[in-house]
Amino acid sequence: MSQTLFTNATLACIDGDNGYGLRTDSALLVEGDKISWLGTMAECTAPVGAEVIDCEQRLLTPGLIDCHTHVVYAGDRAAEFEQRLEGASYAEIAAAGGGIVSTVNATRNASADELFAQSLPRVHQLISEGVTTLEIKSGYGLDCDNEIKMLRVAGRLQSELGIRVQKTFLGAHALPPEFDGRSDDYIALVCDEMLPRAHAEGLVDAVDVFIESIAFTLQQGERVLACARQLGLPVKAHVEQLSDMGGAAMAAARGALSVDHLEYLSEQDVGQLADGHSVAVLLPGAFYVLREQQLPPLAALRDSRVPIALASDANPGSSPIHSLLLIMNMACTLFRMTPAEALRGVTLNAARALGKAQYIGSLEVGKQADIVIWDVDQPALLSYRIGMNPCRAVMQSGQWRVSGQGVAA
Ligand code: NIG
Ligand code: FE
Repeated sequence: MSQTLFTNATLACIDGDNGYGLRTDSALLVEGDKISWLGTMAECTAPVGAEVIDCEQRLLTPGLIDCHTHVVYAGDRAAEFEQRLEGASYAEIAAAGGGIVSTVNATRNASADELFAQSLPRVHQLISEGVTTLEIKSGYGLDCDNEIKMLRVAGRLQSELGIRVQKTFLGAHALPPEFDGRSDDYIALVCDEMLPRAHAEGLVDAVDVFIESIAFTLQQGERVLACARQLGLPVKAHVEQLSDMGGAAMAAARGALSVDHLEYLSEQDVGQLADGHSVAVLLPGAFYVLREQQLPPLAALRDSRVPIALASDANPGSSPIHSLLLIMNMACTLFRMTPAEALRGVTLNAARALGKAQYIGSLEVGKQADIVIWDVDQPALLSYRIGMNPCRAVMQSGQWRVSGQGVAA
């Protein structure tokens, strides 16, 4: 079994209840694909034959986790960006047949290879900043074959790039034009055919639904989540993004791993998230791009000790953003989160939002050796700087992704 010893490191372990879990002058041992030991430099002895990496007091964090993305799609929506700058709203553009549906047309028309080729640079960009786990949603196919095409492309990104991908079925993302005026019929198709088929092919790790005035009702969303639960699949939901539809409380009551967006979440419903052990996934990129004014109820989430995760929401409409470091900065500047909350939001709490906190999201003995070496000496620098990428090297499950050259002793 291969062994790698990181010495003279500053570790942001993210292992306590809050804060960074910072340990200076520390060492960490990886054996095979797992973290097997960590401690102080004074306690550390290098096992015979181990590769030794002198970190020169650089910061090590767990691999970053982007727990909400729509990174597989075709085309772009730059024209809508221009329309919004001229005053059209996201909801108006969607109501006029643009928005998600315009990406659906482009995605349906793309072959699986084209979809893969267009998605690849977006994923490369995310992983260049230390992302080791990525959630990817379907939701731009909106029929059986095209949803399955998207999920297969997500799987191919995992196998070709060696990253960990969670595939989330989001068939109930928007109403496809051919079902205009028949949204219940579409939901029936999602529940009776699309989801069972995608699941039977082993393509679904979780199920999501968009509950909003421009998407599906609370009852329709509930139906999709109930079907998913019957299949034994974990659930999550896009809720309270543009209005308060009560979706977060409903999804939390169904044991949702996460409820995402939440700008319009009422303070009364925050307690339901705590009761349901659902993670609040905040998406400051969409808030920024859509120039939203309504802030998510951060104080209430903190008071109720709801774990808060952050994600890029990378998508062609509301969040054409491919940088988790920028998202961390936005969470601090726009939502007044602390840099420690931001780092926890893209590591341990993001792992919880994917139901994977048992084995990723922190630097702890027994967890997967997903480790980023940063060219910084203190963790707040990750949130503080904009447009810098201090990612120096990435280890995923004990394997180097970016060469550790220049770091090795
Ligand atoms: O998370 N809210 C719904 N879905 C995406 C937007 C997708 C799009 O505009 O293409 C989101 O923001
Ligand atoms: Fe989204």
